[in-house]
Amino acid sequence: MIKKIAILTSGGDAPGMNSAISALVDTAISKGLEPYLVYEGYKGLTQGNFKKVSKHDVKLISPLGGTAIYSARFPEFADVEVRKKALEKMHNEGIDALVVIGGDGSYMGASKLTEMGIKTIGLPGTIDNDISSTDLTIGFQTALNTLVEAIDKIRDTAESHERAIIVEAMGRYCGDLAINAAIATNAEVLSVPERKLEESEIISKIQEARDHKNRSIIIVVTEEMYDVNALAKKVQAETGIDTRANIIGHMQRGGSPIAQDRILASQMGAYAIERLMDGENGVAVNIVDNKLNTKNILDVVKMERASKDKLLNEYDLTK
Ligand code: ADP
Ligand code: F6P
Repeated sequence: MIKKIAILTSGGDAPGMNSAISALVDTAISKGLEPYLVYEGYKGLTQGNFKKVSKHDVKLISPLGGTAIYSARFPEFADVEVRKKALEKMHNEGIDALVVIGGDGSYMGASKLTEMGIKTIGLPGTIDNDISSTDLTIGFQTALNTLVEAIDKIRDTAESHERAIIVEAMGRYCGDLAINAAIATNAEVLSVPERKLEESEIISKIQEARDHKNRSIIIVVTEEMYDVNALAKKVQAETGIDTRANIIGHMQRGGSPIAQDRILASQMGAYAIERLMDGENGVAVNIVDNKLNTKNILDVVKMERASKDKLLNEYDLTK
């Protein structure tokens, strides 16, 4: 029987993580468990940086951006000796289960702790929406809204100045933020890892858009694909179209979570406690077709990404 449960956030922070923490704490207490919050992800776990909390401690955190218990990139956690230290800190406090809110890297850490005897459950927390087992990750919808707002503003100035503007979205190797934002803003050109355009193709499509009398031309791309500032110069040199680049960057991770992320995170948090109490271990929570489920966390990490063809087709039809 689980009695004491720890909660941490790890990897890139995502709006809505706080609602997940709040729901996890509230549900744990309602079910007779003692919840602990771990500060700074796996780094804090290794240092024993955690404290027991009450419902009162998390009552007001849902509207806050970021993660109230902080996060960390802590590559040292891949080392078994480092994980043993974390285990020791948990054992000393009598903690028998751990909830990890993060992306697939954080899930790897959780699966390794499971192998070492700690009960774990993962919640998908990342703006990238790159966890294959779930339709939505916590934070994605807020980040998408932020990106769309930014592109709308960029459109205003591009239209005023008859410019092409390249917008670089986050997403690591996943095009979900870029594709959905391109649909929402009627972007003229889109290039994502799942359907990468050569620079020459981008230039042709920009020229085509101008030939079709578009004053402003928005090109949405996922990060890490091009040097967008160099590409803007190249577009301008080859087409004569005044071109700029904007890297939207970390503002996509910040800000108060929208209602949908708070609700998703709350539902996943409450569900995670129930699943743990039912004896599940080493699993991750997902939402598929509006229904929550769990799946083995290692299988989740290894799972192949679903095809983005349907979404890309939607973009093609509506641009
Ligand atoms: P995300 O969880 O958003 O994908 P990262 O890839 O940075 O972000 O992973 C978050 C953290 O998870 C890492 O900083 C590290 O502490 C832990 N982690 C990642 N990969 C492993 C691994 N192979 N073994 C153990 N821990 C890992
Ligand atoms: O995983 C979330 C994310 O924001 C990615 O979109 C991006 O590639 C990465 O994190 C940036 O990480 P950092 O904040 O460590 O530079």
